[in-house]
Amino acid sequence: MAEAPETTAPEVTLEEVVALCKRRGFIFPSSEIYGGIGSTYDYGHYGVLLRNNVKNEWWRAMIGERDDIVAIDSAILQHPRVWEASGHLEGFTDPLVDCRTCKLRFRADKLEEAQCGRKPSKHPGEFAECDLTDAREFNLMFETQVGPVKDQGSTAYLRPETAQGIFINFKNVLQFARKKPPFGIAQIGKSFRNEITTGNFVFRTREFEQMEMEYFVPPDEAEQWHRYWMDERMRWYTELGIRPANLTLRPHGPEELSHYSSATSDIEYLFPMGWSELEGVANRGDFDLTQHARMSGEKLEYFDPDRGEAYIPHVIEPAAGVDRAMLSFIVDAYETEEIEGRKRTVLRLHPRLAPVKAAVLPLVSRDGMPERARELYADVRAQVPAEYDEGGSIGKRYRRQDEIGTPWGITVDGQTMEDGTVTLRDRDSLGQERVPADGLGERLAARLGEPWRTPKLG
Ligand code: GAP
Repeated sequence: MAEAPETTAPEVTLEEVVALCKRRGFIFPSSEIYGGIGSTYDYGHYGVLLRNNVKNEWWRAMIGERDDIVAIDSAILQHPRVWEASGHLEGFTDPLVDCRTCKLRFRADKLEEAQCGRKPSKHPGEFAECDLTDAREFNLMFETQVGPVKDQGSTAYLRPETAQGIFINFKNVLQFARKKPPFGIAQIGKSFRNEITTGNFVFRTREFEQMEMEYFVPPDEAEQWHRYWMDERMRWYTELGIRPANLTLRPHGPEELSHYSSATSDIEYLFPMGWSELEGVANRGDFDLTQHARMSGEKLEYFDPDRGEAYIPHVIEPAAGVDRAMLSFIVDAYETEEIEGRKRTVLRLHPRLAPVKAAVLPLVSRDGMPERARELYADVRAQVPAEYDEGGSIGKRYRRQDEIGTPWGITVDGQTMEDGTVTLRDRDSLGQERVPADGLGERLAARLGEPWRTPKLG
């Protein structure tokens, strides 16, 4: 197993990120009024907008900017034999131990990361009273029943990955999308895993969203495409503002590889709790298509007219999590600084990721400024997602926008009423320039298309 690179400690704690996400309505603990339910979260207004932007950027990279990938949206509930063929029924397990004393459950292979239920805090097994059972394998798939009668034939599973919905549609796509290897099928959707240990906010939850793409290639090209997709995916994160020093590619050791994989590298990010997986890029070989062909009796292969033979393509899979990606973008963008003796917290998000691009603010709530600002707001929001805010001092309104990462503040003041110009405030430099209000929305929309470099890189 390769070592993660040495870097300085993360600049922000997870507690600070959690507090900002709650304060500004990005993410709430789910079912909070009932005391919460372990490790599930609800996304509030800005959280939804940021998530959508993350997903849009992924679609842009997978579909918008290339011709060799098509989209799919498969069902969450699939035939139970899908999970037999994929190996999940048999092998998608974690070793689990119970403590007979405190009644808590732990992952047997992660005891040194877990906390015993007793105080002072220690690892499970470290108190004399700890009474741990032997480890047993625990399947992470959520089981449910399909139809009104609960019998053996009605068992179904909530999908633990979106990937299998792609493999079982390989034949459909080949036929209807008229693609030939190398080509990919991409999907974003919810997945579910009954994780034994959760935590670290939205990093590991039982319900989460994945962005997965299965890229089908001629077998002798698999290694080269694996390398290609590792580079592409690293580039995606850095172009969206993640600092390269906080990202690393870590190849899996042989003992870590999933049952389907002949080689996997994790893209790891320096989260506040340390280096952790952000995305996996796997070479799945022909494992999945072979398994589904065997179990279903369907031929899942490509007939190459040039070679005059059929073959089972190999698969390269970049598999990312929406929630983890979003967390990494927030963590990397988070900064606190002191401006004229006052603390400001700012999310230096890539403008395309920012939930709101521009805030239109009348300097004061009189002298016709709110009316003029509302007119301008209507123009601007026709071009880019924008907000209007006239509540509280201008400083407070700027701070609110800084905390949700709004790149541009547009202030309507006395001079606007005379010459039609406004001040345009830059979230990062805090520079203010006087610009014509006319056509401002169009100009900001154009800026969203330009390359961007995080100011944190200096
Ligand atoms: N199809 C391959 C696959 O599912 P994975 O490494 O288990 O591979 C891919 O998952 C990505 O999905 C992870 O890198 C992570 O971003 C996200 N993910 C997996 N389990 C998660 C969980 N419990 N909570 C949040 N995200 C998760």
